[in-house]
Amino acid sequence: GMVRKPAAFISTISDERGSELMYSGVKISEVFESGMGIGGVISLLWFKRRLPDYCTKFIEMALMLTADHGPAVSGAMNTIITSRAGKDLISSLVSGLLTIGDRFGGALDDAAKEFSNAFDRGLTAREYVDVMRRSNKLIPGIGHKIKSVSNPDYRVQVVKDFVLNNFPSHKMLDYALAVEKVTTAKKDTLILNVDGCLAVCFVDLLRDSGAFTMEEARDYLSYGFLNGIFTLGRSIGFIGHHIDQRRLKAGLYRHPADDFHIEMATPARVMGTL
Ligand code: ACO
Ligand code: LMR
Repeated sequence: GMVRKPAAFISTISDERGSELMYSGVKISEVFESGMGIGGVISLLWFKRRLPDYCTKFIEMALMLTADHGPAVSGAMNTIITSRAGKDLISSLVSGLLTIGDRFGGALDDAAKEFSNAFDRGLTAREYVDVMRRSNKLIPGIGHKIKSVSNPDYRVQVVKDFVLNNFPSHKMLDYALAVEKVTTAKKDTLILNVDGCLAVCFVDLLRDSGAFTMEEARDYLSYGFLNGIFTLGRSIGFIGHHIDQRRLKAGLYRHPADDFHIEMATPARVMGTL
């Protein structure tokens, strides 16, 4: 008989072969009829399931409030400079995206991991802070360059309010807020930042929405999708910055030389003999 060639790829999230495109088995017509929105589309394509309304709303909120934070942050500056060097939208966008990482915008996955490990090990907030300090590690999801207790980040307040009012449980958020109490007692700027707040709330969502088993929650958290939330959200802003620079017809940027402190080794020191 015929031997079927084994497939080189397996794919399980979308199918365009039939008369209607499907996202995780849901027809595109149904996607629109149900009014599931972008949060619903993300739950189908990222988690292969429909999530309760408060979860899809939360995902949309996360995208909306990470969409931009002004032109001065690392990623927006990269996008603006690239755009002004005459590069196209995609080059400008990825140049901004490449700054997302441990320090800027990409602390979500590590925050989720570190906070939930500490919580699961039964560490008190203070013990967690001390353990991190002893191992010389910054706590991911804590700290901000300009936001502080006295200059609070409204985005974080919006997330907290929504979660406290809509999630069935918010153990990890409560734990992170206890950690914030310890860190801000040391320094005003060591707040639970937007990355950290979103991350711990996503842990609460995965663990306690009833939509995932404990094992699935653990697996999803290990896939690194949380930084994808910030990346997707901030792409909206970076694209906006590119369009803005085009609209402004901004020319090639050269940074003022007097803003650099340039230190040159003298030839003598380089050679080490003269
Ligand atoms: N955990 C513990 N201590 C910290 C942390 C932290 N997360 N962040 C800063 N500190 C301490 C520093 O060790 C330093 O202590 P010292 O004065 O005794 O030397 C002091 O606070 C100031 O540190 P800076 O590096 O000057 O802080 P800065 O304001 O430049 O950094 C930043 C802000 C980059 C966000 C930093 O707090 C950090 O790396 N946090 C962890 C990563 C993170 O969550 N990033 C996401 C930020 S939100 C966003 O980008 C959308
Ligand atoms: C952001 O959302 O980009 C920030 O919180 C980082 C910043 O320094 O403003």
